[in-house]
Amino acid sequence: MTIGILKEPDYENRVSLLPEGLKAIENLNSSTLIESGAGDKAFASDSDYSEKGGTISNLDDILKNSDILLSINSPSKEVLEKLKPDSIMISVFNPLGDKEMVDFLLKKKLTAFSMDMIPRTTRGQAMDVLSSMATIAGYKAVLDSAMNLPNFLPMFMTAAGTIRPAKVLILGAGVAGLQAIAIARKLGAVVEVFDVRSEVKEQVESLGGKFIEVEGAKEDADAGGYAVEQTDEFKEKQRQLIHDHAAKSNILICTAQIPGRKAPLLIEAKTVKAMKDGSVIVDLAASTGGNCELTENGKTIVKEGVKIIGKSDYPSDMPNDASRMYGNNLINLLKVLIDEEGKVKLNLEDEILQGTCITHDGEIVSPRLKSFLSK
Ligand code: NAI
Repeated sequence: MTIGILKEPDYENRVSLLPEGLKAIENLNSSTLIESGAGDKAFASDSDYSEKGGTISNLDDILKNSDILLSINSPSKEVLEKLKPDSIMISVFNPLGDKEMVDFLLKKKLTAFSMDMIPRTTRGQAMDVLSSMATIAGYKAVLDSAMNLPNFLPMFMTAAGTIRPAKVLILGAGVAGLQAIAIARKLGAVVEVFDVRSEVKEQVESLGGKFIEVEGAKEDADAGGYAVEQTDEFKEKQRQLIHDHAAKSNILICTAQIPGRKAPLLIEAKTVKAMKDGSVIVDLAASTGGNCELTENGKTIVKEGVKIIGKSDYPSDMPNDASRMYGNNLINLLKVLIDEEGKVKLNLEDEILQGTCITHDGEIVSPRLKSFLSK
């Protein structure tokens, strides 16, 4: 089996597999072709890959000779057109948000696995790229907000007086939110948290955050650990409570999302106006519309004296560990996909492969994607 590692687009600093991951590929009786320069921005040079037994090559040769291709960002259609008909492309295709790409993959009868579709089950955890990247985003969001805040985060009792700890309000206690709680607490801030899933209350409290409950939230045990759309009445009640708490906070970290949908709007312009001058909002949901009405994706703006950071590529800002985590997730998937003799075993009955394979032979495979597109 030959596995090809593609160079990412210019805006991306990560690479899908670091040289340290090549040993695991070798253990799967497989070899690796790496596009020249693929790891440069993640601090992995061509010679680092060669030393670990990889072969540096060019894009055309990789596409011609690889059985499985790896990338983070989905390759361009021009690149996908050149894939061998029986090869497998593993990437983050965002199929819930990019129907056009799904149609293209179907038309070309490509076998595509999308790492953002790994089922959120116990077995899937070791391959869950969304969790890995959200961990980085949650961590970076707190550091970024702390660097932009004109105040300390921890309490200080000094000869120059007592400094009160900063108040951090976190919206959404999924992977990014829980990581943000942990880091903000480590930096000494007082942390309050909103979520619509009551099951996270215990996790929030175990990290030292205060969980603020809004009664009447709709939950669905079959939603795979994700939130579901709320009623208008609930949304209004929640926005009011968030408004009251935001007005007393120095930092607001927004992580609320419902997969495949526009991010829920939780902070209106009037809430931003009610916040203290110098406060900071980091809106991790910026790429899907943001939890804050005023967020602009990819921009940092100041509105009503509040800095609003709408950054969507924190993992790319920490390319070495982000690539390490992505690569480890990939290796764990490859262990399911490749047998001991180095051959693909495309068992689409397997819960992980079925959930992650979005298209094969002109058909949609993932039941979650099928049901999403049929609505
Ligand atoms: P997740 O699905 O694990 O967590 C989202 C949380 O929001 C869930 O706990 C859910 O119950 C909660 N939620 C949903 N609707 C809500 C509402 N109306 N009110 C309160 N809570 C609500 O998602 P994860 O993996 O933590 O990602 C969070 C966000 O971070 C996503 O928007 C994701 O796209 C984004 N992200 C951003 C990155 C960046 O660089 N900016 C990088 C990685 C992820």
